[in-house]
Amino acid sequence: MMFRMSTPIILHLRRKCQNFWQEVYNKNMNIILFIILVIIILFLIFFGISTLISLYGGVPFVDSGSDIFRQAFKMANLRQGKVLYELGSGIGTGIVIASREYKARVCGVEISPLYYLISKIRGSSDKNINVIYSDIMKVNLHSADVVYCYLIPKLMKALEQKFKHELKSGALVVSLAFQLPNTKPYKIEKIKNRTLYLYKF
Ligand SMILES: C[S@@+](CC[C@H](N)C(=O)[O-])C[C@H]1O[C@@H](n2cnc3c(N)ncnc32)[C@H](O)[C@@H]1O
Repeated sequence: MMFRMSTPIILHLRRKCQNFWQEVYNKNMNIILFIILVIIILFLIFFGISTLISLYGGVPFVDSGSDIFRQAFKMANLRQGKVLYELGSGIGTGIVIASREYKARVCGVEISPLYYLISKIRGSSDKNINVIYSDIMKVNLHSADVVYCYLIPKLMKALEQKFKHELKSGALVVSLAFQLPNTKPYKIEKIKNRTLYLYKF
């Protein structure tokens, strides 16, 4: 008799409990979905702004690729104790290779917040890597032994004067694809249908 009476009550309580948890789950799912959506939107805005800033700097982001970096660094005889500046260091592929494989002290300069952040994170555990959030025209290059860049002709023209004024005697510049307009390359090498120009100042 006792058992029979308690069964509907237990069933009722069980149903109430289930409804309660279902409600909690639905509410939380809505909040979680909302947070995910906000994160995606914020990331897209950040990515968009970063891309616009790269383009405002005049150059969209395109990675040189590891093989080209290695050939460029070999060409410039990059080694331990040398200081490398990468102008427009993108996502940091070059600066990581230069520090890990060539033991150089490295400074990446990047104008786009997203690429700056990515390269900052990639180089964060390496005391030989420094990444500066700046326009390349505002960074003094007097301590550079080697400069690497993959930019555009307009910037190469502006940089030519900067190199002449700031680089120490004997410093080397390697440029992928684009030449300095009024300086004769010291060496030219081809890799994967791309051209690397080496200049000696
Ligand atoms: C073609 S990508 C090359 C990236 C990297 N150096 C590589 O070779 O893989 C050019 C990079 O230069 C950056 N950049 C463009 N103008 C710049 C400026 N005025 N100052 C600093 N960085 C700039 C862009 O944001 C982009 O990441």
